[in-house]
Amino acid sequence: MKTFGLHLQALTLFCLTLCLQRTAAFDPKDIKTAINITWSSINFKTILEWKPKPENYTYTVEVSGKYTDWEKRCIRSMETECDVTSLLEDVKDTHTARVISDIPVTEDFVEEFPHAESPKFIPYEQTILGKPVIDSFELNKDDGKLNIFIKDAVTPYRFPNGSFKTIRDIFQNDLRYTLFYRKASSTGRKQVSSTTNEIVINAENGESYCFFVRATILSRKANRDSQDSDEKCTPDGHNDFDLNILVAVISAVVLIVIIIVLSVIICKCRKAKAEKSKETKPLNEI
Ligand SMILES: *[C@@H]1O[C@H](CO)[C@@H](O)[C@H](O)[C@H]1NC(C)=O
Ligand SMILES: *[C@@H]1O[C@H](CO)[C@@H](O)[C@H](O)[C@H]1NC(C)=O
Ligand SMILES: *[C@@H]1O[C@H](CO)[C@@H](O)[C@H](O)[C@H]1NC(C)=O
Repeated sequence: MKTFGLHLQALTLFCLTLCLQRTAAFDPKDIKTAINITWSSINFKTILEWKPKPENYTYTVEVSGKYTDWEKRCIRSMETECDVTSLLEDVKDTHTARVISDIPVTEDFVEEFPHAESPKFIPYEQTILGKPVIDSFELNKDDGKLNIFIKDAVTPYRFPNGSFKTIRDIFQNDLRYTLFYRKASSTGRKQVSSTTNEIVINAENGESYCFFVRATILSRKANRDSQDSDEKCTPDGHNDFDLNILVAVISAVVLIVIIIVLSVIICKCRKAKAEKSKETKPLNEI
């Protein structure tokens, strides 16, 4: 009986140390709740970002829509960002994210994990439009029309047949392109809008035109406009000529410099060789 009691005491002591060790494995004070949670989204690719960098714990992200359950991404991650694009495919839904600070818990841990909630996010209203790209342009000299083709940016989302949806597929007539154009010789700018990705303007014969494109989502109150695309110009007689002359002159100068440098090097090499053979000859003869 006495030995049994002793055993029991030893067992309790053993258990106590074990339990203490387990709780000592993390200090709740080390575990921080996420702050400054932001959505960063371009053409529907969306990354959730937050602070601070975790030390001795991890984060897990959960996202839900108005009528959908919480779904997890980036489980037990040491990062402070998470690609949540795949959870936001219902682009008109209002989404909320939670960043949970994971605790390495034992089974008897009942408290809720510390977590922080993000601002609400509606991809359709809030994703930033990427800078549009002018795919190509075509000057028809016969009827004096300049056709400009804009590339509809692709999104990360796919049709059932596997091909990627473009921003046009998602926004449809809510997406408008505006072309800003001017004669290369003047600064007066005109503009024309279209809800297709081809824009046609009248071009005067012999004139060069410069133009860029901006995308707009008509239904939005904020973030309506994209950045402007790069400016492109149609080729033109005089400008082309000037540019060609410049390129020719630069090429000629570069070529002459190369020839001079090469001949100097070759000349020096020969001299050095000649001197070397002079020095070595007597030695060889000994
Ligand atoms: C978090 O955001 C607040 C404003 O919302 C800002 O004042 C603060 O500097 C930010 N903290 C960090 C660590 O960026
Ligand atoms: C993380 O754990 C290591 C080792 O246990 C410790 O040295 C370090 O101070 C901890 N860092 C923080 C921020 O608690
Ligand atoms: C896939 O489906 C979409 C919409 O139904 C269609 O616009 C697209 O052309 C299709 N792509 C292919 C490769 O069949």
